[in-house]
Formats: sequence, C-alpha cells, structure tokens
Amino acid sequence: MRRTTIADFQTMKDEGRRIAMLTVYDYASALIAEQAGVPAILVGDSLGMVMQGRDTTLPVCVEDMIYHARMVRRGSHKALIVVDLPFLSYATEQDAVDAARRVMQEGGGQALKLEGGREIAPVVRRLTEMGVPVMGHLGLTPQSQHQIGLRAQAKQVEAARKLLDDARALEEAGAFGIVLEVIPAELAALVSRALTIPTIGIGAGPGCDGQVQVWHDVLGLFEGKSPRHAHRFAEIGQQMVGALSHYVRQVEEGSFPTQAQSVSMKPEVLAALESKD
Ligand code: KIV
Repeated sequence: MRRTTIADFQTMKDEGRRIAMLTVYDYASALIAEQAGVPAILVGDSLGMVMQGRDTTLPVCVEDMIYHARMVRRGSHKALIVVDLPFLSYATEQDAVDAARRVMQEGGGQALKLEGGREIAPVVRRLTEMGVPVMGHLGLTPQSQHQIGLRAQAKQVEAARKLLDDARALEEAGAFGIVLEVIPAELAALVSRALTIPTIGIGAGPGCDGQVQVWHDVLGLFEGKSPRHAHRFAEIGQQMVGALSHYVRQVEEGSFPTQAQSVSMKPEVLAALESKD
C-alpha cells in the first residue's frame, strides 16, 4: 500500500471517513503504529515533554524535530507524516521557509504543523505556494501557553467567533487541515461543518473530522492522572514495569540467562583450554 497523502486526507473528509492521527516520535513506535494501521502520524513538539522530560514545548528546536522525524520516517512507510515546526521557528516568512526546508529535506516530513490563526496566514500562504503542505493548530496552542495558559479556549462568543475566523483564514491561506485543541465540542463541530478541509480534534469533542492523541497518553505509559482529553486505551507502562522487574529478579536470582540464550563451545575446545591452565 502507498503512503497516505494530503489528498487522501481530504477524500476521507469528503467521504465522511474519520481520520485517526497519533503522535509518534521514534522508529520502533513508527513500526508499531504502521502495524496498527494509523493513517496519519504527528511528530509533535510534545516530544519536549514526553521524550525529553521538559515542562513545556518551548525549548524544542528544529534540530530536535529533524532528529525525531528521521527516526519516524525510517519506521513508517504508509502514514502521512506531519511534523511540528517548533516555537518561534516560523516567526517570519523567511524563518518558516528555512525551517521547512530543513525539516522536510533532513527530517523527511511530508507536511508541517504550525500554531496560530489569521496572524500566521501569510506564512501559511508562502509555504503552501512553495509546495509545503501545512496543517494549522487553533484553540489551546501550547507554544503560547505563557500568554493563554493551558486551559480550554474559545468558550465565550467573541473568542469563539475569532477562532472561526482564524480557521477560515488558515483554509483560505492553503492549509490542508487544522488541529482544534481543547475547545468546546459544539464550536469544533461548527468549525468542522464550516470548513471544507478536515479538522482534527484533541479535547474538542466527536464532531471533528478526525482525532489526534499523544502516544504516551493512549498507551498509558506514564503513571498518574492523564489529561482530560486523553483516553488510556491500555496500561502499557504498568506492563513494562512488570516485565522489567521480572527481568531484574531473574538476573539477581540467577535464573536468567539459561542455556537457551547462550552459545557453547565444543567440549574438546574447552578441554584444550583447560589443559593449558
Ligand atoms: O505536539 C503535539 O503533540 C500536538 C498535539 C497534541 C496536537 O501538537
């Protein structure tokens, strides 16, 4: 099967087929996502938190995105690979073109995701005119968290109108899709109906054309409370802890490794070795 394209993305919306997108950050995970039939991968700058252990996405740089996108690209042959442009890497049109060149040429991303509304429309237009597929991101945009906080957005009429206007501006500028993060479900459904291009929700209800979730959230890799918008489809973190403590116990008690994990020497070689001592 060939790789998913942005045209397939649009066809899925046109045919009323929902799009499942997932963040993936490395080779092994990309192989697993492929086996599971994930049609669209986001190499998200959330890697700053879940892969690098940082508090926010702000310290993530273009090199980090290239490093992770490359690994994902090696393990994925069928999914559409969208890569985040990190904080302030698209502050001007020229910055955006430079970052896009690096992320696509060196990282192998097929499309880029940028946070922001009407104010970044000129950047989106420039990139799309240069042949770069761009996905927008509205609502709770974590790169602006020091301005807007990490709370639900566009709950009041003025902010909701602005979000709809931003979504239209991104579509007009050539975006092929828009992530809607943590906004009221009713607004997300309204935006999804108003736009021709697909909307991909996270914490934005079931009325979007698709959903995106973070790898570590859906697999239950971290202990403790998950974000409200996340659903733990498994508790892989617990299974990993169980498997690894089993390994530690077996090494400590001497029951691992056994003959099955060892190579042997012919008896005559051993005898010759011992006779020399
Ligand atoms: O960086 C990321 O993972 C994201 C998603 C949460 C949409 O932007």
